[in-house]
Amino acid sequence: MAKASTIFRCSNCDSQFPKWSGRCAECGQWGTLVAEVGTGKKATAVPAGETVALHDVSRTSRIQRRETGWGELNRVLGGGLVPGSLVLLGGDPGIGKSTLVLQTAERLAAKQAKVLYVSGEESTDQIAGRLQRLTDRPAALDFLPSTMLETVLATVKKSAPDLVIIDSIQTMSSADALGEPGSVQQVRAVTARLMELAKKNGPAIILVGHVTKEGSMAGPKALEHLVDVVLYLEGDPLSPYRLLRSVKNRFGSTNDVGIFDMQDRGFVEVPNPSQIFLAERQDAPGGVATVILEGSRPLAVEVQALVNPTVFGMPRRTASGIDLNRLNVLAAVLSRRSGLKLASQDIFINVIGGLRIQERAADLAVCLAIASATADQALPANVIALGEVGLGGEIRQVPQIERRLQEAKKLGFSTAIIPAKAKVAALPGLTLERSASVNEALKLIRAPKKKN
Ligand code: TYD
Ligand code: MG
Repeated sequence: MAKASTIFRCSNCDSQFPKWSGRCAECGQWGTLVAEVGTGKKATAVPAGETVALHDVSRTSRIQRRETGWGELNRVLGGGLVPGSLVLLGGDPGIGKSTLVLQTAERLAAKQAKVLYVSGEESTDQIAGRLQRLTDRPAALDFLPSTMLETVLATVKKSAPDLVIIDSIQTMSSADALGEPGSVQQVRAVTARLMELAKKNGPAIILVGHVTKEGSMAGPKALEHLVDVVLYLEGDPLSPYRLLRSVKNRFGSTNDVGIFDMQDRGFVEVPNPSQIFLAERQDAPGGVATVILEGSRPLAVEVQALVNPTVFGMPRRTASGIDLNRLNVLAAVLSRRSGLKLASQDIFINVIGGLRIQERAADLAVCLAIASATADQALPANVIALGEVGLGGEIRQVPQIERRLQEAKKLGFSTAIIPAKAKVAALPGLTLERSASVNEALKLIRAPKKKN
């Protein structure tokens, strides 16, 4: 017989060690290492598994989905909520997770789904009050204030709901698991048990999880591998817009984002985000439009720049919506390659709508916005700029340019400044101005060409 082996597991961060010590070397907590005895058993004489002819599996036995009542949520889930699936909804505290799940629960209930809403965070009065604020005549929802996993399991067994919402995973604990509620061991154990429940022909389950200060949910992304779908609700807390992004989806692609607008009666979906992000555009100097891709979705946004002489000391560079390092690089390129005198100028960049631009395709728009602000000269409002800017001031290609241009055209832009080498066919109604460098692009906007 194989020797039983002992490992030591930290009850705070779940790290494993071959030897005991007073302090966990991983998370630094004292007195959290607990001995676990492995069985050391080896599997012998296991029968062969049964294979399935995949190509013969009928269409109807493939994934079925439940329409959630939100176009934007369906989009992110890949068509709807899959029965028996476990969905993790993460996000910063206060971003709107509870509001979104409560509205979703209500919408599903209105479509005859039996919904159980479990909260370990808020009281019955709080949730009921919120529900009444969100809808005038809410559909029938069952509420269970509880923090015990075993209570939830027993309730689900008794009432057999179609959807269970757990708000939040960090408040739930199981009598069978070690550690405090919210510790990695607890949240993992609870999640694993819920997964088991969902998979046994059970309900779809949406788990709410708070992102902790370190940017991970109860430890380093401790749950993502345990669940079917991982969604994050993101956004600038000062702006009403929220992006719902899927980072993992066993039933669909992770290329879609849903966009919601937080109003005083909860979330409203935003099927045409570009229109909203551009709605308050003015012909002021420093504003340039571009099209970014969020997943596979093109979004037109306005980048604004303000350039002001530095009053004292070092010039300031402030970026909201783009990476500050990127702003520094682009400002250096403009100084060096285009002769813009930015050394004693403060530069502020802002992306409208609280969006965060993660891609380089907006570089050119940032550069043109800074140039326009420096010259105090507005660009024509019907111009859109697309391109990555290299250190030599060259304009480089952007992925999926055609899709972006189509969005620009749809929104009524008439001219697009694009990389010289962009492989794109002419689009009727949209003039394509190809530029190889930022300098060329600047000339274009200083002396706009007449259409022939
Ligand atoms: P909440 O859903 O409680 O966030 P989370 O569960 O992610 O912590 O939402 C918190 C914020 O949403 C709160 O600051 C108030 C705001 N809010 C609205 O603006 N309108 C509404 O109708 C509701 C219900 C909340
Ligand atoms: Mg909440």
